[in-house]
Amino acid sequence: MTVKPREELANLPDYQEGKPFELACAEKGILSVTRLCFNENPMGMSPLAMQAIVDMAGKADRYPDTFIYELREKIAAKERARGVSAVTRENVFVSNGSDEMINLLGKTFLSTGDEAIIADPTFPQFETTIVSMGAKAVKVPVDGAFQHDLAAMLGAVTEKTKMIFLCNPNNPTGTYLKKQAIADFLAQVPKHILVVMDVAYCEYAQGEAGYDQGDDYVLKQKNLIVLRTFSKVYSLAGLRIGYAIAPMEILGQMQKVREPFNVNIIAQAAAAAALDDVSHVAKTLANNQQGKAYLHEAFREMGLDFVPTAANFILVKIGAPSKEAEKALLDLGVAVKAGAPYGLEGYLRVTIGKPSDNERFIAALKQVLAK
Ligand SMILES: Cc1ncc(COP(=O)(O)O)c(C=O)c1O
Repeated sequence: MTVKPREELANLPDYQEGKPFELACAEKGILSVTRLCFNENPMGMSPLAMQAIVDMAGKADRYPDTFIYELREKIAAKERARGVSAVTRENVFVSNGSDEMINLLGKTFLSTGDEAIIADPTFPQFETTIVSMGAKAVKVPVDGAFQHDLAAMLGAVTEKTKMIFLCNPNNPTGTYLKKQAIADFLAQVPKHILVVMDVAYCEYAQGEAGYDQGDDYVLKQKNLIVLRTFSKVYSLAGLRIGYAIAPMEILGQMQKVREPFNVNIIAQAAAAAALDDVSHVAKTLANNQQGKAYLHEAFREMGLDFVPTAANFILVKIGAPSKEAEKALLDLGVAVKAGAPYGLEGYLRVTIGKPSDNERFIAALKQVLAK
C-alpha cells in the first residue's frame, strides 16, 4: 500500500524531472547560453544590492527578522513617496518571491469547492495554486487583442467565486489593463470576492498610455491585493523576494499561514538596497525600451506578427510548432519559452535582453525558421 497524498493533488500534473538547460547545452558542446526564457533582468544586479549581500553574508548564522520590519517600513515609505499616501508597514507583506505569495493567498482564502477566475492564458502559478487547494480555476479566454476580457470575467462570477486574478501586464501576452477599465471592473466585483492584481512587470509598463498598477484603489478598495516582485526590474530573481500591498484585514489572515522566517536575511538586505538604486532601474528600463524597439522592428521585417508589449518580454507568432522551435533555438544556444504550454501553439515568448542577446536571438530564429 502506498502513502496517499491529498485527493486534490490528483488534478495537478506529475512532476517532470529535468536538468538545467545550461548543463544540457554544455553536454552538447554549447558553452554559452542566452537566457531569454524567464523574463529576468539582463542588466545584472544592482551594485548596491551586491554590496548589501556581501555585507550581510557574515550574518547568515542568525535567523532573519521574522517581522521583516525594516524592509516593510522602507517599501511603505517608498509607496508614500510615490503618492500612495495611506500605505504603512502594516499594509506590506513580504514573501519568498511572488510565487510564495500566490501560494499563501490560496492557503488563506481557498477551499475545496471554491472557484477562482483567471485569464487564459496567464501566469501558470495562479492555476497551480487554485487547483492545489481543491478549488476550481475558471479560465476566461483573453480577447482578440490578447487582453483580459474583463466583462467575461465578471460574467463568470458565481456564488462559489472567492478570488479573481488580474495580471497587469499579463504574462505571457505582455498586454496591460487601463485605469478606467480597472475602475469599472472593481466597482462591479462583489466585495466578498478578493481581487488579486499581480503587477510583477509594472515598472516596464509605467510609460504606457493609461497604465495603472492599482495605486488609486489599493487600500481604498477593501477587497484588492496588489502583488509586486524584486525578481524583474530589481534583478533579484535568485534571492526569491516579493511583496504585496493590501488592507491589514487581508494581510493579517495571510500572516497566520506564513512561515516565521520565510524571507532570508540576504534577500531582505539586498531588496532594501535595490530599492535605493534608481540608476540601475533607469538603465534597465532604457535597455528594455531599446530592445523592445529592436525586436518589434526585426519581427516586422521578418513578417512575423507579435503582440505589442508593455513588459520585458514579447509574444511572437512564428507559425511553426513552438516546442520544436524552442528546442531548435536551444541547440543554437538561445533559451526562449514555447507558447504551447500556455495554449499558444505557433507562438514563442522571448524575454528582451541586451542588444547582443536580442541580435543572437534574431539570427538564431531566422536560421530555425529557414529550415
Ligand atoms: C506575472 C508574474 N507574477 C509572478 C512571477 C514570479 O515572481 P517571483 O520571482 O517573485 O516568484 C512571475 C515570474 O515570471 C510572473 O510572470
